[in-house]
Amino acid sequence: MTTILITGANRGLGLGMAKHAADRGFTVIGTARNPDSADELKSIASRVELLDTSSRESIDALAQRLGDEPIDILVNNAGIFPHECDDINDLDFDAFERVLRTNTFGPLMLTKAIVPNVAKSDRKLIVSITSNLGSITDASKGQMGFLGYRTSKAALNMANATMAHQLKPKGITSVVVHPGWVQTDMGGQAADLSPDQSTSSIMNTIDQLSAKDNGRFVDYKGDELPW
Ligand SMILES: NC(=O)c1ccc[n+]([C@@H]2O[C@H](COP(=O)([O-])OP(=O)(O)OC[C@H]3O[C@@H](n4cnc5c(N)ncnc54)[C@H](OP(=O)(O)O)[C@@H]3O)[C@@H](O)[C@H]2O)c1
Repeated sequence: MTTILITGANRGLGLGMAKHAADRGFTVIGTARNPDSADELKSIASRVELLDTSSRESIDALAQRLGDEPIDILVNNAGIFPHECDDINDLDFDAFERVLRTNTFGPLMLTKAIVPNVAKSDRKLIVSITSNLGSITDASKGQMGFLGYRTSKAALNMANATMAHQLKPKGITSVVVHPGWVQTDMGGQAADLSPDQSTSSIMNTIDQLSAKDNGRFVDYKGDELPW
């Protein structure tokens, strides 16, 4: 039985991935900052765990509760997109710190805390949800704006490329996945994809991932993206 742990699973892409994972018969551990109000997640997940990915104490407490339970697939999904740090001319460093803490430190703190659980599983897979906005190649072609968010995802991409090598001896595969532009609270209603289109495709891509994919930066369809 495959166990998947998905952060920020109470809404948006996290909830969509939880639904598709449950449809596959996976044991779904969905995390939420406020489990009491995560009714939809509760109806599909095997269990809902309290987690604020920006808090080391919260991460340590979850790791304690997991004990030595194997986690086949860790999905670092929780993220934020504050616009107060979009532009260097008017940059709010508190917002910048928040986005780095949530989108970059959070996935790394959680990964570090539960590497032993992933290492003792069958799949040994870590998927971090990134963005094509983290591509330095694309940004240097002239795409503008979103300084803080782009930086947080570019740093997540580099962290993944690095930790992929560092975790390889434990048999762990680490991949960053861009979900597309999706109609969630973050993506807005003008986005290209419905949450179901994106997350069904992400889960199909996750099904196919193996050790040969270690360190890759792909989109929801599994296609390579430029760094
Ligand atoms: N939507 C897009 O077009 C798009 C495109 C590229 C990448 N992404 C990435 O995809 C991921 C999911 O985005 P989404 O569109 O589903 O966003 P969303 O609808 O805004 O949902 C974000 C989720 O992250 C959780 N979260 C935020 N900060 C957290 C924290 N400190 N601790 C724990 N959970 C936290 C939220 O929990 P609360 O309900 O408690 O706030 C919520 O469950 C993010 O990493 C995002 O950067 C999205």
